[in-house]
Amino acid sequence: MFIQENPTEILPASPAVNRSGRNEVCSSGAGLVVVDEKQGAFFLHSGGATYAVAVSDHGFLHHGYWGPPLAAQDLASVFPVRGRAFSPNPIPGDGNFSLDTVPLEYPAYGRSDYGLPAIEILHPPTGSRILDLRYDGHRVLKGKPSLEDLPACRVSAPAEAETLVITLRDSAVRAAVELSYTAFAGHPVMARSARILNEGDSSLVLRRALSCSIDFSPQFSGFHFVHLHGAWARETQIASHRLHPGLQSLESRRGASSHAHNPFFALTEMGAHEEYGAAYGFSLVYSGNFLAAAEVGPYGRVRAQIGLNPFDFSWTLDPGEAFQTPEAVLAFSREGLGGLSRAFHRVFRRHLIPEPWRDRERPVLLNNWEATYFDFDADRIESLAKEAAGLGVELFVLDDGWFGRREDETSSLGDWTANPRKLPRGLADLVRRVRQHGIEFGLWMEPEMVSPDSDLYRAHPDWCLHVPTHSRSLGRNQLVLDLSRPEVRKALFERISEVLRSAPISYVKWDMNRNMTEIGSAAGGPERQQETAHRYMLGLYALLKELMEEFPEILFEGCSGGGGRFDPGMLHYMPQIWTSDNSDAVARLQIQYGASVVYPFSALSAHVSTVPNHQVGRYTPLKTRGDVAFTGSFGYELDTSTMTEEQRKQTRSQIIRYKNLRRLLITGDLFRLRSPFEGNEAAWIVVSPDRREALATHVNVLAEANPSPIKLRLRGLKSDGAYRVNGKEILQGDFLMQAGISVPEPTGDFISNQWHLHLI
Ligand code: DGJ
Repeated sequence: MFIQENPTEILPASPAVNRSGRNEVCSSGAGLVVVDEKQGAFFLHSGGATYAVAVSDHGFLHHGYWGPPLAAQDLASVFPVRGRAFSPNPIPGDGNFSLDTVPLEYPAYGRSDYGLPAIEILHPPTGSRILDLRYDGHRVLKGKPSLEDLPACRVSAPAEAETLVITLRDSAVRAAVELSYTAFAGHPVMARSARILNEGDSSLVLRRALSCSIDFSPQFSGFHFVHLHGAWARETQIASHRLHPGLQSLESRRGASSHAHNPFFALTEMGAHEEYGAAYGFSLVYSGNFLAAAEVGPYGRVRAQIGLNPFDFSWTLDPGEAFQTPEAVLAFSREGLGGLSRAFHRVFRRHLIPEPWRDRERPVLLNNWEATYFDFDADRIESLAKEAAGLGVELFVLDDGWFGRREDETSSLGDWTANPRKLPRGLADLVRRVRQHGIEFGLWMEPEMVSPDSDLYRAHPDWCLHVPTHSRSLGRNQLVLDLSRPEVRKALFERISEVLRSAPISYVKWDMNRNMTEIGSAAGGPERQQETAHRYMLGLYALLKELMEEFPEILFEGCSGGGGRFDPGMLHYMPQIWTSDNSDAVARLQIQYGASVVYPFSALSAHVSTVPNHQVGRYTPLKTRGDVAFTGSFGYELDTSTMTEEQRKQTRSQIIRYKNLRRLLITGDLFRLRSPFEGNEAAWIVVSPDRREALATHVNVLAEANPSPIKLRLRGLKSDGAYRVNGKEILQGDFLMQAGISVPEPTGDFISNQWHLHLI
């Protein structure tokens, strides 16, 4: 019954994929994808997880299984066919079969399925919205193709992955959907996406095109729905609730993935916890409007979906054209949310973050924003950089305010030339002055924006997103440049490149400080305006790709008022992201703990800032601020000139300590031990892959009178190994994990402790 479109193909490594030149043919190779012709099923096996789909006799594609490893076996029992009242039958003569009652893999509306569709297409010649997608072939590829114009996981060698592409077709509408599934060797992780092709001779209108959909069987209707929500300065707060009948969803309509919801959710089985039970994660490699949803149907079927938000979206597909959805990364763990996080961390570090930065240690930086805000000149910057270098800081970052006539938030975005009042001798001169103190130079930019009070806007008032019917809403006094337009991107590329070539700049903080309104483009016709938000993202990605290729040695850090665009899409280009504008150590406990559910520490930019903290007014010890910021790409955000001699001394040793630990922190496995969302403590441990070294951190938030003793049970160590703790006592791994380590009694608020462990 199977139609193999091509024998198994070998793809070159993703970065260099030649789409037309899939040249070699091989047998099934690593066996990540197994095709079971007899029963018409496909199995993906990798890293301790199995995923299965099956084709029914009528050619519908069913979800078969996802979970712990399962040998190829009969999937028929997974979807028993049983006629039910009010479940219509698309197959003439078969009164039992209905799409309303079986698990589906990429459902469409109109042929008896009433759940949330994964795809909707309008067929303008007839006005029909009905889609009947049936299996029409498959192919297996060694490796993983790159996605057209979109960020995605990548492989450096074909052996690292196998990709199954299943073609579904509706011959009446003359549309095809290619569902792509990549299994990554050694990871319980799969990448999914869809490519929709117009094979007819009239245009089609795509109204919904999600990246994936999975129907879990009713036994899972007791799942918990775990997600990360927030707002500016309090991002990535963990929320979890039991699924209820009907729809639960989160989405962004802001033109960015947003502070409000991260493009991620997990389903955890009833009773699952941090280190126990089945957990299924969905993460979208996209930085714009998204939808993540779970729907429990009348017979308990749980439909989970993630992808581009259909809200305010439509896309005209002309004959012969194809539309590629963003990629969803799906992870499975039997070790609860903790295991799920480790699966995401490993796959993102290995297959998503730009290769040059994969395991590369990040420089300790000092950023001048909270030290000076807009109020600085070249002398002040040089003296901050000099002081920082003396403390052991490796990179000085000049934040907002260095360009145009920028004295506050009201002007000059778009005019990327040195501010003549603050830097009269220009940027290159400042970079030289900073670097002469033995420290690298980094620069803040906000390239996607334009201030109405700027030379750029005066020259090109139509270059921003806008509509002819309404005025332009400002956000932080600025407008969003229309990156869907090639001429805007070209001008930006040239201007940014000029700045980056003008001096030895080794780091860029790429900021983005407002969400979209009046989403329209002067470039598209009226019928194409709902394409604008997605075209903007494609434009942004094209610009970033070009810049990364031009400046591979520059470390780009993403930022959107902190974590307003903290997503895998940005991580594909930028290995680290400023986690939040809230730099308070106690607030960061929750923000970073939440972000760590999906993202590795190396991706979380975290700084020590001054006290009282500028966002919440809190005083915390310098040690605690450092210990908390160690959980990320580490740096400082304070005025070094006001430090006491004692603080300088402490900072110097903090930096030495971080430098000794950063390899462990960037490559190790994270085990979360105490949740700051559940009590007065937070704790976690990072363990090296060979389990020879570990760093455990505990923070007690508020002190209590007459407290109970605190014991912290560690995780991830060798149970039969002996560890030297903080260079002193020797304790057995099983003792540390079962009996636990004693946390010294807190002597005040916000006290942290760390234990550095070495296997002896
Ligand atoms: C928002 C960022 O998150 C801050 O760190 C800082 O760079 C400001 N923008 C500058 O305007």
